[in-house]
Amino acid sequence: MKALLIAGARPNFMKIKPVLDGLENQGCETLLVHTGQHYDEMLSGVFFDELGIRAPDEFLSVGSGSHAAQTGAVMVAFEEVVAKANADAVVVVGDVNSTLACALVGAKAGLIVAHVEAGLRSRDWTMPEEVNRVATDRVSDILLAPSPNGVANLEAEGYRPDQIKLVGNVMIDTLLTNLDRARQRPILSELGLTAGEYTLATLHRPANVDAVEGLAALLRALGTVAAKSPLVFPVHPRTRQSLDAVEVPEGIILTEPFGYLDFIALQDGAALVLTDSGGIQEETTVLGTPCLTLRDNTERPITVTEGTNTVVGRDPDTIVAAALDRLENGWPKQSPALWDGKAGERCAAAIIERIADTGAKRPTDI
Ligand code: UD1
Repeated sequence: MKALLIAGARPNFMKIKPVLDGLENQGCETLLVHTGQHYDEMLSGVFFDELGIRAPDEFLSVGSGSHAAQTGAVMVAFEEVVAKANADAVVVVGDVNSTLACALVGAKAGLIVAHVEAGLRSRDWTMPEEVNRVATDRVSDILLAPSPNGVANLEAEGYRPDQIKLVGNVMIDTLLTNLDRARQRPILSELGLTAGEYTLATLHRPANVDAVEGLAALLRALGTVAAKSPLVFPVHPRTRQSLDAVEVPEGIILTEPFGYLDFIALQDGAALVLTDSGGIQEETTVLGTPCLTLRDNTERPITVTEGTNTVVGRDPDTIVAAALDRLENGWPKQSPALWDGKAGERCAAAIIERIADTGAKRPTDI
């Protein structure tokens, strides 16, 4: 049995590692493909080093581009890998352009396609990730969902029960494995921060950062929060492009993106996290750190109903009011079932079982 595992962008790397380990532990040969969607050291290389992910077997070097250019470049390059790999299955994670591109190629090549993190829905079609999620699920044979809500979404869309498996959250496997190491990092003292006495903020969604006016309004809100307690803001390359045209309020500590361990340490020590990321909503939930999501929706509602997250939208006054409330009063801690560090093994078991059942042939009735 042989599986091709795809990682392309920063949020993929911590998700692919537990699945890679699970498949290897359970006797499935793996070939790791890095599409090169993210290529900077701090968006890619540092994650391989810190998480102990082996060097990719194939690096596709697609780089940046428009959605069509990037997705198309991954498809063309990945098709060549599939043609020579003689694999049974393609395993994709998350919702980035590389996820959809490789799922499409795998499906058309007749391979079994497994989607890790299936079933998440924001129902916001302005998000490129929502298009990627829905389209990836549609061409996948095995839908590995992180939460009961993901399962319910897939059932409502008419997927067969035998395609859907509730496996838990692979990103949390990586978090739990590395939490002790992260807590030993000296990053808080290097930044002059005290645990429980600072806010951590990240923004990179096109809806928040591509328009200079919108970004400026959000930064003014962050500046008001920063006047109460220090606020660290690592800047994603996408955000950097607009930031030069915006006045950054005093008190906001701008930094380069952090590596995995430092960023976990910073989330763990923060009194509050403000973000528009998906994965950070999940990590703060498990770490018990209050999180405000600066979007109008979330594809991860379990972090609200069973976690520490609140979706506050993008109105600056609402954000400031909620942030000051959390800094003053905190928020109850709780954590979803099956976010237990064993999701990668459950994904691997489901993938191997499906390959064994179908004799590595893609079913014709998905
Ligand atoms: C992508 C994902 C998003 C994910 C995010 C995490 C899609 C549609 N979006 O968004 O879901 O949350 O990654 O970071 O796949 N850039 C660099 N260095 C790099 C990579 C990118 O400078 O290593 C620059 C690019 O030139 C581009 C910008 O960052 O201008 C955006 O990169 P891109 O991968 O297109 O999308 P993200 O906004 O990062």
